[in-house]
Amino acid sequence: MKSFYITTAIDYANGSPHLGHAYEKVLTDVISRFRRQMGDTVYFLTGTDEHGQKVQASARKQGVEPQAYVDRISAEFQALCARLDVSNNDFIRTTEPRHKQVVRAILQQLFDRGEIYQAEYRGFYSTRQEQFLQEKDRLPDGSWPEIYGEVTDIVEKNYFFRLRKYQDWLIDYLRTHEDFIFPKYRQKQVLEFLKEPLNDLCISRPKERLEWGIPLPFDENYVTYVWFDALLNYYSAVADKGLWPADFNVIGKDILVPPHAVYWPIMLHASGLPPPKALLVHGWWLQGGAKMSKSKGETVNPLSLVDQFGVDAFRYFLIREMNVGQDSEFTVEQFLVRYNSELANNLGNLVNRTLNMTTRFAAGVIPAVDVTEDPERELQELWTKTRDEAVPLCEQFQFHTALERGMAFITATNAYIEKRAPWKLGKSAEAKDQALLRTSLATMAEALRLAVALMRHVTPSTTDKINAVLGYTPGPVWRDELVWGAKLKGARVAESLVLFPRPEKKVG
Ligand code: ME8
Ligand code: MG
Repeated sequence: MKSFYITTAIDYANGSPHLGHAYEKVLTDVISRFRRQMGDTVYFLTGTDEHGQKVQASARKQGVEPQAYVDRISAEFQALCARLDVSNNDFIRTTEPRHKQVVRAILQQLFDRGEIYQAEYRGFYSTRQEQFLQEKDRLPDGSWPEIYGEVTDIVEKNYFFRLRKYQDWLIDYLRTHEDFIFPKYRQKQVLEFLKEPLNDLCISRPKERLEWGIPLPFDENYVTYVWFDALLNYYSAVADKGLWPADFNVIGKDILVPPHAVYWPIMLHASGLPPPKALLVHGWWLQGGAKMSKSKGETVNPLSLVDQFGVDAFRYFLIREMNVGQDSEFTVEQFLVRYNSELANNLGNLVNRTLNMTTRFAAGVIPAVDVTEDPERELQELWTKTRDEAVPLCEQFQFHTALERGMAFITATNAYIEKRAPWKLGKSAEAKDQALLRTSLATMAEALRLAVALMRHVTPSTTDKINAVLGYTPGPVWRDELVWGAKLKGARVAESLVLFPRPEKKVG
């Protein structure tokens, strides 16, 4: 079995989770579940980023100790993972000893080898992004882009990591590893960024300014810069498991350049470790054209949709709506359009019809196919085409298109039912009509089974529920489940299943 190690970014423990965090976890979960279905042994890591100025400031504001504060926030993120059916194998917190130990060991090793030196720093710092800024980051009018929040001017003695020394190595690495960043065009943006000379990276904060961090092993008057600390989580969590390098670090586009595309590969390379095999960079959920974030108040908390409509409807929407890499506008209206037309009407209808008609016309037992005519052949051919396109689409992270194909197949199955009209066949005593009735019941049930097998990584509990009411237990090999056959023959179905009910109260 192939092992597959995938991570999300670790979320700042300075506020409650929002839609951006939920999306990244669901996306990474969908990839993880898909890889497991394909036979890989997956290790899926997520976690919380708990040090730094931002966290210290948020704790102070609430009048609590940073540790108590991050314990509470980290618990919220862990609860979010459980609520979203996220199948992570591990959850790392950067305040854990297993992490701090690795960070200190790497810092010491880099210091001993002369990769870290002390010097005076003067420059600009964004607390919101926990990032140093340069003149070139200013807008044409001299102000700082809003994304940086408040920018302060600082002068202090600090420790620096020799980033500059590895600039040519990184450029060469990117040129010879064309698939390092997905989507590909982002790799070009990184190379563009690397046309300017890099500054060495300030990796320390004097303790009088920031206490909440990992002390430098070679100078206890300083703590480690939060990005240097945080990036190492991907390695520290698996250092003793032989899983490095990761197959994918999944991140949002705001933290690609410079942290993940520049600092991270260079930190690893300088430490004698390989870079992750790839970075998967998703876009932003926007509201009113602006990035949704915890620093801003929101009108509707999208996470409330989980309670109102169920976790699978929420997961379905996020994955169906977002083309991985691009941005997407979040609106409740669009959520309701997908919920009503695709889940409730299209899929929900197929489930209801299959259960009702099997109960009414076949005493609840799925019959065998009796005759195969053009409508059956056409539906089977459409299935083969759907599956043969959808699986490679998922391998390329085009989950939204794969779902679209799956929905089109469900639409075609509903059209097949209209054409066969089992409710008419059921009234006829003719042998031919009875044969067609059995055929149509078996065909719609098999089509339903296949469609939900194809969606399983996105809507795992819905797929389980539908299999259960079809009286079906899937086999261990997912790809075998995608073959049209007679797996349901003789299965006893339930009479009904309420899957995607109409909202009772106002949404939001
Ligand atoms: O950046 N849409 O943490 P974070 C989509 N601790 N994704 C979004 C988003 C939105 N509106 N808003 C945020 C950090 N994200 C660091 C990471 S990794 C070693 C350290 C994504 O809580 C964002 O792009 O600000 C990032 O990948 C993740 O949520 C955590 O963001
Ligand atoms: Mg952020």
